[in-house]
Amino acid sequence: MEPKKPIGFAPPPIDDDTIEAVTRVLRSGWITSGPELAAFESEIADFLRVEMAMCFSSWTTACELALRWYGVGPGDEVILPAVTYAATANIVLHCGATPVLVDIDPEERVITAASIARHITPRTKVVMPVDLGGWPVDYQAISALLDSADIRDQFASASPAQNTLGRPLFLSDAAHSFGALYGGVPVGGQADITGFSFHAVKNLTTAEGGALTFALPVEFDMGSVQRWFKSMALHGQSKSALEKTNTGNWHYDVAEAGFKCNMTDIQAAIGRAQLRKYPDQLARRQAIAQAYDSGFGSCHWYQAPPMQSSERTSSFHLFQLRIKGFNAERRDALMALLKEQGIATNVHFQPLPLLTLHKRRGESIAAYPESELFFHETLSLPIHLQLSDGDIERIVAAVKEGVATLSNG
Ligand SMILES: Cc1ncc(COP(=O)(O)O)c(C=O)c1O
Repeated sequence: MEPKKPIGFAPPPIDDDTIEAVTRVLRSGWITSGPELAAFESEIADFLRVEMAMCFSSWTTACELALRWYGVGPGDEVILPAVTYAATANIVLHCGATPVLVDIDPEERVITAASIARHITPRTKVVMPVDLGGWPVDYQAISALLDSADIRDQFASASPAQNTLGRPLFLSDAAHSFGALYGGVPVGGQADITGFSFHAVKNLTTAEGGALTFALPVEFDMGSVQRWFKSMALHGQSKSALEKTNTGNWHYDVAEAGFKCNMTDIQAAIGRAQLRKYPDQLARRQAIAQAYDSGFGSCHWYQAPPMQSSERTSSFHLFQLRIKGFNAERRDALMALLKEQGIATNVHFQPLPLLTLHKRRGESIAAYPESELFFHETLSLPIHLQLSDGDIERIVAAVKEGVATLSNG
């Protein structure tokens, strides 16, 4: 029998246009943060229909800057889901603050305003839910909760930004949800600050990279917010390298010990080439998710990921199949069967309390029963632009056969 064509999990959508764009920047004489980055930031803001977008070296560095801008430090608590990538909690730990984990909702697979409310204390400085797989959290409900009189009354401000906002910051981990819709508009303009990832496996990639969008109340001077973030991404320098060159005035000052997490023009060129094609790519992702959904629709064990409602549309970043009654051993055995047939799959994610770092912090998975059950039953299938309709049929057939074999075993 001829070996079957391997199907990768999430190969990056690098085409000739992307390669040409990168070549153009490489030949331009300016390769670090400069005009290409400025154009990418403005195009992202237009695409997401927000006033301001800023790019950085990753989601991780961008969102850690956001925590530091808000003055998060030792003694503070940051609320986040138990099911997420390690980065969401790591940036809280980098700041010396405490991640407070919340169990996911079994249907939504994200955290809800009701579950967040049960974990808010006077020490809560930031609420950081995750749009898992590209499914937006209920932005309106979470904003209403954070704006309520009770939460405002108990909030203890300890930084200039905290004084201005007067309540916990709503920082959305939208690493997966670039292009998702909430209330008919793109995710990015609902939370106070929204963080996107352009890592190599994300829907829109710059190899590594991330962006923040801002929807802070009018009391904030967005010009100074922008200057703070831009300068803190460059060691606290008062001028960027390009500004120093262009103004012919090399003098600069450093008032704070900043970080080094700017996005380069090479990365921005990759992002710009992809952004032009992104609406079509989103439509293809949606079609793939729908094909999986109808392929598995008649299976008694199938639980569909949330994809569309009157309020929300996913970015279809992941197709997280859920197999009712499975456990981690059988799921792993299914992954091995699929691998034998050349089909790559993945799991998003090991809940944080299963990781040594968080066990050491005293976390136990027993406190997060929905997250634990989800982990046992979930499997992410390939969803990307190189998949043909025939590939999807092959994956559906292989998964059905594998589940039947393992269920009888
Ligand atoms: C939910 C979530 N948050 C944050 C990140 C971190 O993104 P980055 O790799 O751009 O720092 C990821 C990356 O996979 C993620 O999946």
